[in-house]
Amino acid sequence: MTKKINVGVIGGGLMGREVASAFGRWFALKDSSVNPALVGVADLNADALDWFKSVPGCTTLTQDYRELLENSEIDVVYVAVPHNLHEKIYTDVLDSGKDLLAEKPFGIDLGSAERILRKTTDSGRFVRCSSEFPYFPGALRVYKAASSGEFGRILEVRSGFHHSSDLDPNKPANWKRQSATCGEIGVLGDLGMHVCHVPFRLGWKPNSVYAQLQKGYSERPGGICDTWDNAMLHTWVKIEGSGDVPMRLEMKRLAPGETDTWFIEVIGTEGGAKFSTKNPRTFWTFSRESEQKWSRIDIGFDTSFKTITGGIFEPGFPDVLMQMWAAFFAEREGVLGEHFGCVTPNEAVFSHQLFSAAIESQKSNQSISINHK
Ligand SMILES: NC(=O)c1ccc[n+]([C@@H]2O[C@H](COP(=O)([O-])OP(=O)(O)OC[C@H]3O[C@@H](n4cnc5c(N)ncnc54)[C@H](O)[C@@H]3O)[C@@H](O)[C@H]2O)c1
Repeated sequence: MTKKINVGVIGGGLMGREVASAFGRWFALKDSSVNPALVGVADLNADALDWFKSVPGCTTLTQDYRELLENSEIDVVYVAVPHNLHEKIYTDVLDSGKDLLAEKPFGIDLGSAERILRKTTDSGRFVRCSSEFPYFPGALRVYKAASSGEFGRILEVRSGFHHSSDLDPNKPANWKRQSATCGEIGVLGDLGMHVCHVPFRLGWKPNSVYAQLQKGYSERPGGICDTWDNAMLHTWVKIEGSGDVPMRLEMKRLAPGETDTWFIEVIGTEGGAKFSTKNPRTFWTFSRESEQKWSRIDIGFDTSFKTITGGIFEPGFPDVLMQMWAAFFAEREGVLGEHFGCVTPNEAVFSHQLFSAAIESQKSNQSISINHK
C-alpha cells in the first residue's frame, strides 16, 4: 500500500495549477512509494481559487494561507508566490512544522536565502527547491555522461534557458518585471536556478563570474518595468581532471524565436553530450575515434521514475514536473536511491551568491571572485 501524503499549495497561479495536474494523474507512475493528494489551496485572488473547485479532493480553498498551516492533516506545503513573499511564507510554513517544496529563487536576494537556510536547518524539516528541467530523460543522460569522466579534458560547459516572453512590448507589466517583487537580480532569479541545477550537482560551482546583463522594455501597459531581462554569465569552474574550465550560463527573456528552451552542453577532448528541450526525445553524444562524430539518439520516454507511457513517446513539461515531485517525495521518504534529487537549500543559497556577484560584475564591468562558503 502506498502512503498518502496531503499537500497544500500557497499561490494558485501558473505553477500552483501545474501541481494539481501532476497529482491528478499520479497513477501513471509505476514506482512511487507515495500517493500525494492536493487537499487545500491558498491564494489572495478569488478567481485563482475558483479554478481549484474542479480538482477532486481539494476541499480547502482560502485567501488566508494560515488556514492551511493550521490544518494538521497537511504534511507538505508547496509555495509558488512572488519572490518578495518567499522568506515570510517559507518561514511561516517551517514554523508550522510542515515540510516544504519551495520555489526558486528561494528568497528575493542572498540575505533572504541565507535566512531561509538557517530557518530550514533549525526547523529540521525536509526542504527542497523546485527545478524540473533536469528530469527530461535527455538532461539526465547529459548529467550521467558528464559524471562518468569519459569526456577526457572538459573544454567547455554551456547551460541555458531562453524565452521570448518579453519580446512583445504590449505584454502587460507584472511582478516578474519589477525589482521590488522579482528582486534586483531579475531574470537571474526567474530562470537562473533552472540553469544552475545540473552544473552545481556535478560539483561545478563557479569561482568567478563576468556578467553581461541587459534590460527589456522600461515601460509596459500597466506599469514601469526595471528588471534585468537577459543575462550571460561567463564563469570559471574547477573540474577535477580538467583544471579551470569556462562555463557559460545563459538566461534570457528576450531570445527571438525561443518559447521555452532549456539546454545543456558539455564538451571535452574525448567526448561530449548535449540536450535541448527543443528536441525533447533527443540526446546527442560526441566521440573522437578515427573520425570525430556527433551521434543523435532518440531516447524517447526513458524517465527516471517509470510510468505507463509508451517508451517511444516524447516527454513534456507536465511529465518532468511530475518526475520532480516524485524525486521530492522519494527523498523525503529516504528512498531516492539513484534518482536525481531536487535542488537543496545549500545549492539555492550558492546560486544567490553567484547572482549577487553577477550584479556586482555588471556594475563594475569586472570579473568577480566567489568564495565558496
Ligand atoms: N519551476 C518553474 O518552472 C517555475 C515557472 C514559473 C514560475 N516559477 C516560480 O513560482 C513562483 C510563482 O510564480 P508563478 O508564475 O506561479 O506566479 P503567478 O503570478 O502565476 O502566481 C502567483 C500566485 O500567488 C498569489 N499570491 C500572491 N500573494 C499571495 C499571498 N500572500 N498568499 C497567497 N497567494 C498569494 C497570486 O494571487 C497568484 O495567483 C515564483 O517563485 C516563480 O519564480 C517556477
